[in-house]
Amino acid sequence: MRIWKNNKKKELSADIDMNRIPTHIAIIMDGNGRWAALRGMPRAVGHRAGVEALREIVRTCDALGVKYLTVYAFSTENWKRPQSEIGILMSLLKEYVRKELGDLHANHVQIRVLGNIEQLPPDVREAILLACEKTKDNTGLIFNLAVNYGGRAELLHAVKSIVKDVQAGKLDEEKINEESFENYLYTGGCPEPDLLIRTSGEMRISNFLLWQVAYSEFVVVNECWPDFNEKSLIEAVRIFQNRDRRFGGIKKVEE
Ligand code: IPE
Ligand code: IPE
Ligand code: MG
Repeated sequence: MRIWKNNKKKELSADIDMNRIPTHIAIIMDGNGRWAALRGMPRAVGHRAGVEALREIVRTCDALGVKYLTVYAFSTENWKRPQSEIGILMSLLKEYVRKELGDLHANHVQIRVLGNIEQLPPDVREAILLACEKTKDNTGLIFNLAVNYGGRAELLHAVKSIVKDVQAGKLDEEKINEESFENYLYTGGCPEPDLLIRTSGEMRISNFLLWQVAYSEFVVVNECWPDFNEKSLIEAVRIFQNRDRRFGGIKKVEE
């Protein structure tokens, strides 16, 4: 087991304001297939390289002091892919969680899962549940793995749970508001993402965190996910720090 929190913070802080690090970063890790195709290799090689990128980004987020990291690992629409590719993605997911658990735990990372894991192969589901269980009391970085996740499915799941609670008399209809609704999402208790990064140049949301990204700053980078590294993350944070977030208001003016 390795403790990765070291003096890295100093090293990373040259280009960005360490006092304005986004609290929650969400990432659409896209472009593994294209990364491999560019190298004349099968898509699986791209997915494997993508796992390495993820390792580095989790460490970097932690070193920067990010409090929540949410990564899109498998969408509800990714089941449309060939069975062979789904199999590779699932086994890589299991392998990642199993191999990384020791380090994540040693570094106080709390692993959570977003999505319907009932539909995952049992071995993958068990590996994820074990990781969540083992790290549930950790107080460091909260690392949300979005697996079999879809924003629409999440919203429907929330609505159904609300209806159940209203019918059971546990929730007063009058008390349904934006705040209480958020508690029914998979991300209940997490603040919404400040920064949403998508790799490989695609300018779309692909059913990710539909409710939560209402006011997130969106940074699209051209690199494919396996090429996304510490430097790329710092650059995305720098771009974020230069944005003017207004949330529908106007810049603070002299009264
Ligand atoms: C991201 O890379 C991984 C997943 C969606 C699971 P892709 O597999 O989508 O790679 P491209 O977009 O086809 O290049
Ligand atoms: C989004 O990427 C899903 C994940 C990164 C897990 P996709 O590659 O599935 O999205 P589209 O098909 O390009 O919209
Ligand atoms: Mg893709």
